[in-house]
Amino acid sequence: MRDWFSARTKRLQISGIRKMFEMAGPDSINLGLGELDFQPADAAIEALTKAVRDGHNGYGPTRGIPELREALAQRLTKYRPDVETENVLVTAGATQGLLVTAMTLFDHGDEVLTPDPGFVIYQPHVIMCGAMPLRYHMRQEDKFQPNLDEIMELITPRTKAIILNSPNNPTSGMLEKDTLRAIREIATDHNLVVISDEVYDEIVFDGEHNSVLDGEYDNIVYVNSFSKTYAMTGWRVGYLASSKYMIDQISKMQYYNIACPPTPLQKAVHAAVIAPQDELYERVKILKNRRDIIIKRINDIEGFECLKPRGAFYAFPTFDHDISGEDFAMKLLKAGVICAPGSAFGKSGERHLRFSFANSSENIERGMDIVEKVAAEIPRKS
Ligand SMILES: Cc1ncc(COP(=O)(O)O)c(C=O)c1O
Repeated sequence: MRDWFSARTKRLQISGIRKMFEMAGPDSINLGLGELDFQPADAAIEALTKAVRDGHNGYGPTRGIPELREALAQRLTKYRPDVETENVLVTAGATQGLLVTAMTLFDHGDEVLTPDPGFVIYQPHVIMCGAMPLRYHMRQEDKFQPNLDEIMELITPRTKAIILNSPNNPTSGMLEKDTLRAIREIATDHNLVVISDEVYDEIVFDGEHNSVLDGEYDNIVYVNSFSKTYAMTGWRVGYLASSKYMIDQISKMQYYNIACPPTPLQKAVHAAVIAPQDELYERVKILKNRRDIIIKRINDIEGFECLKPRGAFYAFPTFDHDISGEDFAMKLLKAGVICAPGSAFGKSGERHLRFSFANSSENIERGMDIVEKVAAEIPRKS
């Protein structure tokens, strides 16, 4: 039979986490998901039904509907005062925003630096463009900050871009202002693009989020989404911000990719963006409370050590038990708790587990009772 499939398809692996989640029992406590257990705000739901009823069901502009782009530009002025509508492009979620950016920038032979541990789509996107992903590492002992010397060593004349993610999935680490500034300087010196995934920028508990937008535009692409901020993962709307020059090029690619982002959903998201943000702040408070519960419970387990997440909603502890992360996660799965082995996010995640606290406090407590029990039965490394 003819081999139909492209080399890029063959180079992609099915995510290990998905395979594991499929094996979970129906009553399992799910601390594995990167998805909030809230619903979108009523104002957004009403705006969605109204948009559909009012006939906003056709194609829209490739860059997104003007009122949403304008509202987003306004929102981004908190990071840099001169953001304008023309600097913003609406996408079908951050996933598609990252992919269209990759397709606009990467060619065969290019190298792209990706975070390890890091969100699972960065490397496949680079591969889908025929380029080569190279990992830079972040470790708990460095508070999950990238090592600048390592980044310098990885850069070659073929390096095209570096992908950043802060607050980070899976570590919940946040880039310090100085680190971000240093990376931007390295990128400028070596003519690299900085692609900064900031989908958790509104979910910050301590301190301030440092955005890549707080500097020159020329070589940056800011990526965001409504999935996490407004609990709309299934609505598939996100956005990019960059220089007009960069947005023009991405928009060219975007037209051939999705034609336009979904029209009624943009109307709904617009309603959420311009509404008072009290509900969002309330939800961040709820998540902070859950964070405090889960971190205490995890750090009370012998052999576990977890930094306090400053943003996002993941606890990413190390364990010193004599077992691999995959086997540990599998034991937990069989005992009724779903979590992700840190190795799913790269080699630096190998001695970690990722627990999402996007679940009720009761479920977190029940889940941690199980984790504590399972951990006590596994011998520790001497
Ligand atoms: C760091 C990060 N970036 C991007 C995404 C994908 O976001 P979206 O739903 O907007 O595609 C996720 C989802 O888990 C994520 O954790």
